[in-house]
Amino acid sequence: MKPVDLTLNRLEPVPTSWNSDMLKGMMISSELIQKRVGELADEIDRSMPDDKPVVVLSLLSGAFLFTADLVRHWRFSFELDFMGVSSYGKNVASGELSWTHPMQIDLKEKHVLVIDDILDTGQTLRKVTDKLHLSQPASLRTCVLLRKERQQPSQHSVDADFVGFFIPDQFVVGYGLDFALQFRQLPFIGVLDAHVTHTAND
Ligand code: IMP
Ligand code: MG
Repeated sequence: MKPVDLTLNRLEPVPTSWNSDMLKGMMISSELIQKRVGELADEIDRSMPDDKPVVVLSLLSGAFLFTADLVRHWRFSFELDFMGVSSYGKNVASGELSWTHPMQIDLKEKHVLVIDDILDTGQTLRKVTDKLHLSQPASLRTCVLLRKERQQPSQHSVDADFVGFFIPDQFVVGYGLDFALQFRQLPFIGVLDAHVTHTAND
């Protein structure tokens, strides 16, 4: 199924209980996220090979809610592990990567599915998959909730095999995604107000 194509014209008001002058609006409601996560989970389930063990590898911290919701749809067997990857800096730019939590599982000869929150330039997923390939998995596929539409993947980046939503190039928070480590708990995807991101980049 083709992922829903969202445009900023459809920005909705933030639900009253979450109102904040730091948020410009709601891009994806909690209900729409849950519907799409269910579809994505089915899509992945149907395409999962069953000849070798499966490892689901979730990237901390942004993918923690997405992972928790996805995996509860699955009845096939898999090992679940987490790997900590963080972009340096507190602002909104993608930066150098640091590894904040090592994975525990041996990936050799296993089908690996990497889950991340968002694909922007694709450099994070590229560095992660380059690293994981060294462990010689039987296959390596990637799944992201959001993919920004601003650019096509380059030789330094990678595209995702499964995408929840294609979104415009705006800085988004919520459902695991943060700004300066905040907003991860929002049940919806919100757009940060421009005055917040400008202050952070000063
Ligand atoms: P990439 O390496 O440019 O693809 O950036 C991916 C990483 O940057 C994601 O895993 C996020 O941690 C972070 N990121 C990129 N865009 C956003 C955003 O709009 N909101 C929150 N985090 C973001
Ligand atoms: Mg991330």
